[in-house]
Amino acid sequence: MGRNWIYLSIVVAAATAVGYGKLGSVVDASVPTLPPQAVVVNLPSTNVIGANGIFRDASYTTFFNPTNSSPPFFQVLDPAFLTILGPHAFVRGVVANPEFAFAHEAPIWDPETDEVFFASNDGGPLGRSDLNNNNIVSKIHLYDVAKAFTSSGSNVSSVNVTVTTLDLSDEIQMTNGGTGPLHGNLILITSGRGPRPPSIALVNPRSPNNVTLLLDNFYGRQFNSLNDIKVHPTSGKLFFTDAPYGFLNVFRPANLMQNQVYRFDPATGHVRVVADGFSRPNGLAFTGDGKTAFVTDTGIQGGFLGVNQTLPASIYQFDVDPKSQAFTNRRVFAFVDNGVPDGIQVDSKGNVYSGCGDGVHVWNSEGTLVGKIYLGTTSANLVFASNGRLVIMAETAIYLAQLAVEGLDLASFA
Ligand SMILES: *[C@@H]1O[C@H](CO)[C@@H](O)[C@H](O)[C@H]1NC(C)=O
Ligand SMILES: *[C@@H]1O[C@H](CO)[C@@H](O)[C@H](O)[C@H]1NC(C)=O
Ligand SMILES: *[C@@H]1O[C@H](CO)[C@@H](O)[C@H](O)[C@H]1NC(C)=O
Ligand SMILES: *[C@@H]1O[C@H](CO)[C@@H](O)[C@H](O)[C@H]1NC(C)=O
Repeated sequence: MGRNWIYLSIVVAAATAVGYGKLGSVVDASVPTLPPQAVVVNLPSTNVIGANGIFRDASYTTFFNPTNSSPPFFQVLDPAFLTILGPHAFVRGVVANPEFAFAHEAPIWDPETDEVFFASNDGGPLGRSDLNNNNIVSKIHLYDVAKAFTSSGSNVSSVNVTVTTLDLSDEIQMTNGGTGPLHGNLILITSGRGPRPPSIALVNPRSPNNVTLLLDNFYGRQFNSLNDIKVHPTSGKLFFTDAPYGFLNVFRPANLMQNQVYRFDPATGHVRVVADGFSRPNGLAFTGDGKTAFVTDTGIQGGFLGVNQTLPASIYQFDVDPKSQAFTNRRVFAFVDNGVPDGIQVDSKGNVYSGCGDGVHVWNSEGTLVGKIYLGTTSANLVFASNGRLVIMAETAIYLAQLAVEGLDLASFA
């Protein structure tokens, strides 16, 4: 990357001199234009801190922000990120409620209505949910977001659109993940609460938001606390993770099975394990061809046990066996520099996005960390919503990043 990188540094110097607005006119057309919120980090200049320098000890509370830029911004760590961003990228807050972690996980974009559904934090800080209180599923309309952006003109500060809460049946307890829509229905995966079992359910995205349960046991045994789910792009089978967070966040009994990754075939009723050997398996995703799988391991995040930074904060990559669909050839894809990699998505070019302690980290298909959508706060998950829109859950806020890439069309997997 040496030559490109030097060139990029020159471009940035020029941008500083003339102002970002004029950058397009002074730069060779073959070099991607820096969008206004992009901040380039010259990585080699950060490689040596020195004996008297300040190192980061606590991955959760101190972040890598060598330019001291104010979030939200795009932290460019490799020129490849500029192709993902495109010249018109921006990232803006769309709704916030500092008192309530209403936007934790389970983001699902419904192409029929242009709405995004999501679940509040289950059992964690500001989640307003625990052993005695269920969490909630809500939605925003991206038309409202576009309208609010338009009426604020060129001002890229946050807007605050309306959030609508769904009135779901009691069968849905502690929603933690979601995907689809599958044949028009949301797929929710729940952690369960107290003795109520974790489950996978189809939910009508439209009123009355009726529910059909698909699975709530493994040959009669309860799962620990189901976490996240994806539809396999070419076979339509459901793959999901089971994690210990119901117990670790004090709303489920002690775990009775290994934390692992399962495959479920709703047509035949078969459930099987496709990968084990994790600390705390969490998010999962496939490449568009269905041949490669990613599973995040949030091992360092231990709920009431606290943070143990010597455990995994890692993304593992696998081949999907063409016959059994077991996850084979496990290798580490990434270890993140802060927080944990939680929810994970892949775009149509094979770039990988995961919500981490300081925002969304972006890797190319080779596993190079090309940049971050830096929020200065935790994102647990995100979802593409067509036309380059990436909707980012950030617990007490939702952000929208406008990029120049398309996510996989999750609603087409069936
Ligand atoms: C956004 O609106 C909601 C609902 O009216 C309100 O509770 C919240 O405080 C607002 N957020 C901000 C940042 O003003
Ligand atoms: C942008 O909007 C925010 C919130 O409405 C306001 O505080 C700020 O002054 C505006 N900035 C500009 C440059 O107009
Ligand atoms: C919701 O109810 C309608 C009408 O009974 C039914 O056709 C549909 O399959 C139901 N959807 C779910 C997800 O249960
Ligand atoms: C952190 O995890 C490691 C590896 O499992 C373990 O050996 C160590 O005891 C843990 N530390 C604490 C403080 O729990």
